[in-house]
Amino acid sequence: MSTLAGKIAVISGATSGIGLAIAQRFVAEGAHVFIFGRRQAQLDAAAKLIGRNVTTIQADASNLDDLDRVAATVKEEKGVVDIIVSNAGFTEQASIDTITPEHFDKAFNLMARGPVFLVQKLLPMMTGGGSIVLVSSAMHVMGIAGHTAYAATKAALRSYARTWAAEFKDRGIRVNLLSPGATDTPILDAQSGTREELVDMYQSMIPLGRLARAEEMASAALFLASGQSSYVTGADLMADGGIGQV
Ligand SMILES: NC(=O)c1ccc[n+]([C@@H]2O[C@H](COP(=O)([O-])OP(=O)(O)OC[C@H]3O[C@@H](n4cnc5c(N)ncnc54)[C@H](OP(=O)(O)O)[C@@H]3O)[C@@H](O)[C@H]2O)c1
Repeated sequence: MSTLAGKIAVISGATSGIGLAIAQRFVAEGAHVFIFGRRQAQLDAAAKLIGRNVTTIQADASNLDDLDRVAATVKEEKGVVDIIVSNAGFTEQASIDTITPEHFDKAFNLMARGPVFLVQKLLPMMTGGGSIVLVSSAMHVMGIAGHTAYAATKAALRSYARTWAAEFKDRGIRVNLLSPGATDTPILDAQSGTREELVDMYQSMIPLGRLARAEEMASAALFLASGQSSYVTGADLMADGGIGQV
C-alpha cells in the first residue's frame, strides 16, 4: 500500500526545487497536495509535472491574508489536513556591514514569521496523527559568512519544532525539522559567485563529496511526514551529506 494513501498535504513553495520534489513524491505515495507559491506560471508548470491530485494556490507565504486564503481553499476542498510542509524560502547574502532592515525583515517575514502563521491557520483542520515538517537548513548549526538573517531564521525553526512538539502533545501531532545540506536547486543561483564556484566550495566541505538531489530531500520529508517516523517528534533530521556534522 502507498505510504501516504488518502492523506492531505499542504506544501509552501512547491513550484521548484525541494518543495516540488516533495509534492511529486507525496502524490506518488497516494497523497493529495495543496501547493502554493507566488508565480502562477510556475504553479501551472508544477501542477502539470505532478499530474494528478494537486491543487494550486497563488499565495505569498509571508502574507497573512494569503495564508488565510490557503487555509480557506483547503477547508472548502478537503476540510482536513494531515501533513504541513513549511518549505518556502530564499537566500540573499549580506555581511554585517551591508545588512539592511529590508533584507532582515524579508528573510524573517518569510522564513520565521510565515511558518508560525501557516501552522496556526491550518492547525484547526489537522487530524490526530498529523505531521508537520519545517524545512530548515544545515546552516542553522554552521557559521557561514554573509548569512546572518538566513541562518537565524533556520535556527528559529529548530526552536519551533521543540516548542510545538510539547504544545501539540495532546493533539497527537508530531513536528520535526528537515535540515537539508547544499542541494542542487535554483536557489543556488541566488548565491554569491558563479554556480561552479559555489558547487566547488560546497563539495570541498561535504563528507559525501557531492551536492544532494532534491529527490533525496523528498525521501527524508516522506519519512517525517509518514507513519514511518511515528515515534519521532521535536527532532532535526539533518539530510546534509555530513556538512553540518564535521
Ligand atoms: N537548496 C539548498 O541548498 C537548500 C539547503 C538548505 C535549505 N534549503 C531550504 O529549502 C527550501 C526550498 O529551497 P529550494 O532549494 O528548493 O529553493 P527554490 O528551488 O528556489 O524554491 C523555492 C520555492 O519557494 C517559493 N517561494 C519563495 N518565496 C516565496 C514566498 N514569499 N511565498 C511563497 N513561496 C515562496 C518559490 O516559489 P515562488 O518564487 O513562485 O514564490 C519556490 O517554489 C528553502 O526553505 C531553503 O531555505 C535549501
